[in-house]
Amino acid sequence: MLGRYLINFKTGDLPHDEVDYLVIGSGIAGLFTACAAQETGSKVLVITKKMVEDTSTERAQGGIAAAIGAADSPYLHEEDTLKAGAGLCDEEAVRVLVNEGLSRIRDLVSMGTRFDRQDGEFALTREGAHSQRRILHCSGDATGAEVQRVLSFQARAVNKLPILENHYVIDLLVQEGECFGALVYDDEDAALKVIWARVVVMATGGAGCLYHHTTNPEVATGDGMAVAYRAGAELMDMEFVQFHPTVLALPNAPSFLISEAVRGEGGVLRNIEGERFMPRYSDQAELAPRDIVSRSILMEMKRTRSPYVYLDVTHLDGEKVRRRFPTITRTCAAYGIDITSEWIPVTPAAHYMMGGIKTDLHGRTCIANLFAVGETACLGVHGANRLASNSLLDGLVFGRRVVDFAHPRIDFSKPIRKPSFDFQDLKPEPPVDTEEIRDELRKVMQQYAGPLRAADGLEQALAFFDRWRFLREYEANTPQEMELRNMLEVGELVVQAALARTESRGGHYRSDYPDRKERWQKHIIFRRQ
Ligand code: SIN
Repeated sequence: MLGRYLINFKTGDLPHDEVDYLVIGSGIAGLFTACAAQETGSKVLVITKKMVEDTSTERAQGGIAAAIGAADSPYLHEEDTLKAGAGLCDEEAVRVLVNEGLSRIRDLVSMGTRFDRQDGEFALTREGAHSQRRILHCSGDATGAEVQRVLSFQARAVNKLPILENHYVIDLLVQEGECFGALVYDDEDAALKVIWARVVVMATGGAGCLYHHTTNPEVATGDGMAVAYRAGAELMDMEFVQFHPTVLALPNAPSFLISEAVRGEGGVLRNIEGERFMPRYSDQAELAPRDIVSRSILMEMKRTRSPYVYLDVTHLDGEKVRRRFPTITRTCAAYGIDITSEWIPVTPAAHYMMGGIKTDLHGRTCIANLFAVGETACLGVHGANRLASNSLLDGLVFGRRVVDFAHPRIDFSKPIRKPSFDFQDLKPEPPVDTEEIRDELRKVMQQYAGPLRAADGLEQALAFFDRWRFLREYEANTPQEMELRNMLEVGELVVQAALARTESRGGHYRSDYPDRKERWQKHIIFRRQ
C-alpha cells in the first residue's frame, strides 16, 4: 500500500482524543463550519497548521460578492458566475451560492463584521466579469482581515471553541470507505496523536504554493487535497488554477496582491511602453475575466520583453485612492512606490484552485463521514474559472450546509468508533534535500503548468514528478517533508489533468489547443487505485 500513508504508525500506541466534529483549517470555511457545529451543542475541535490567522482568508482584499444592490438580483449574480465558469459550473450549486449567500452575509453582519458603508447603505464595488457593483468590502481593501478577525473572535471568545494551532494533519483514518478521524502531528510538542471523530471536515484551503509566484500564504500547499486523495477521496477539476492578474512585481517585495477592485474603481493596465493594451484583447478591457487579463498581460510581457506590466491609478483622485485602498497604498509605499503618482509594476500569480476534493452540495465526499468545504473542495460552483469575490461566500454557504446536513444524521447515542490502524511499510530517512526539491517543483509548475500550457512543457513537468516518485517508499518525518509529499501529489495531478484536457477553457489555456471544445464539456476526476 505504498503511497497510502506518509508515516509508519499504530493507533494503539498513540495518545488520542475524541470529538463529534474535527474541523481541519481555520480560514472562513473552517471557522464558520466549526461555529455552526458548536451551536448544535456538539463537541467540536479545530486544528490548524500554523496560527489561526495564517490563512488565505486573512489576505483577501477585494471582498465578498452578494446581490444586495438595488439594481442587482441573485439571478444576475448567477448569470455572471456561470459565464465566468466557462460551461463547467454546477448550476444548482451556483443557485444555492447566490441565494443562500444573502443570509450568510447577514450572519457575518450579526457576528460584528464591519462592512464599509456609504450614505447608510453597504458600499459596493465592482470587479472583473461582474455585470453589477456587488462586492462588499471592509476597511477599503482589508476585507479578509476583518472577516478573519470576526470569525476568530466568534470561535474563541463567543463559542469557546478549542483550536489547536501548529497541528498538522498527516493522514485520514479510513477503513472500508468510512472515515474515523485523523492522524495529526503536534508541531509544538513534536508528537503524534490520533483524533477520532464522528465527522471530519477538510477546510484546509488551496495550493498556490505549488507555484513560484503566488498570492497565497505559505501554508497553502494542497495538504487537504493530498490527504483526502491518499485516503480514497475523488479530486476533480485539478487543471483549473486561477492566476490573479495583478501582483506586485518588485525584486525585493513579496508577491503582494493588488486587488481587482483597483481596476473596478478605474485602474488601467499599461505595458512598459506606456500603452493601455487591454482594449486590444477584450471589449471588457481591464474588467474581463481573470484568465483573459492574466494571459493578455503575459503576452504583453513577452512582446515587450519585460518581467511586468504596470497598473496605473494616477489619473484617479489621489485622496480617494488612499482612502479606498489603504493596505495597498501602505504596502506599495513601503517598497518605494507612491501609487497616486507612480505606476505599479505587476505580474500574474497563482491565486485560487478551482479544483479540489469532489463533494456534493452538502460538502459530502465519496468517503462516509468525510466532508470538504472552501477552496480545498470542488463541487463545481466555480466551474473552470471562479468569479471574483465568490470564494469567501462559498466558504460561508457550503460550510453551513455541511452542518445542516450532517447533524441530524449523527447518531449521538452510539459511542465514537475507534478501529485499529497499523501501518509499518515505509523506510526511515529519505535521502533528499526537501528545500531543493520544493524550489524546483515551484519553478517547474510556474514554467510548465502556469497560465500558458502546452504538451511538451507538461510532459517535462511529468518527468519531474516521475523522478521523485520513489519518495513514497520513505517516511516523511517533519511537516516540511509532509508538505513536500503533498505538493508532489497535488502538483502531479494538476499536470496530468492539464495534459489530458486538450482544449482551452477558463483558467486552463493550452497554446497547442487554443479553442474550447464541446466534447470537453466535462470534468476530469481522479481517484487513487
Ligand atoms: C481581489 O481582491 O482581487 C481578490 C478577490 C478574489 O480573489 O476573489
